[in-house]
Amino acid sequence: MSAVLQGKTVVITAGPTYEDLDPVRFLGNRSSGRMGFAVAQAAADAGADTVLVAGPCQQECPTVTKRIDVRSALQMRDQVMQHIEGCDIFIGCAAVADYRPAEISDKKIKKDGGDLTLRLVQNPDILAEVAALPDRPFTVGFAAETNDIVKHAQRKLRKKNLHMIAANHVGEGRGFDCSDNALLLLYPDGRQHPLPSQAKCSLACRLVDEIAAEYTRLQQLT
Ligand code: CTP
Repeated sequence: MSAVLQGKTVVITAGPTYEDLDPVRFLGNRSSGRMGFAVAQAAADAGADTVLVAGPCQQECPTVTKRIDVRSALQMRDQVMQHIEGCDIFIGCAAVADYRPAEISDKKIKKDGGDLTLRLVQNPDILAEVAALPDRPFTVGFAAETNDIVKHAQRKLRKKNLHMIAANHVGEGRGFDCSDNALLLLYPDGRQHPLPSQAKCSLACRLVDEIAAEYTRLQQLT
């Protein structure tokens, strides 16, 4: 791979987040972290100074400049914000939990015979917060959708004010925890660019090439 990101700093989130309920239970999701770790490796191979902020997952560590392991969405947000200053490109690959339990019990929750109702509060949207920074980096999001992927991805691209969104199908054996994936890249000006189904590591290289090309194109316009 050519050094298309030489001299650039990239921050990437990857994996799921775990939102603790008590000392033994949490709310999580099925993200394996494979795509995010592959994107981190591709960014590092492209010459970028790469910071990976990873939720709990079992992936082999990519050869990045710095890997920071976190558990919850709040921890992920804190680490991203600590490393975002001076960053050129932010790629939000993580499947961040949208909600967390309103309270974390310090003792194991016991059943008392009846139903249990959990109150959840919203987590910060890390991607939207990065995109709202005054000196925002080139900001790339992912949209994992079970249906109407273009419609949902376009809405997220606009709502979160992103430079690019990579949309993909999840569910029915696709997306999460698979070795292959396909992406549809969407841009704010309406352009669409499909990246066909392939191994996540080669897909990540194609994605990083597209990110570098669009980043460079926008730099040349300013
Ligand atoms: N994301 C984030 N912080 C959150 C939620 C999502 O940074 N609290 C990022 C993800 O890393 C991804 C993008 O936002 O890049 C889209 O996440 P997704 O869960 O698909 O979208 P949501 O905005 O949460 O919308 P919904 O759950 O309604 O589909």
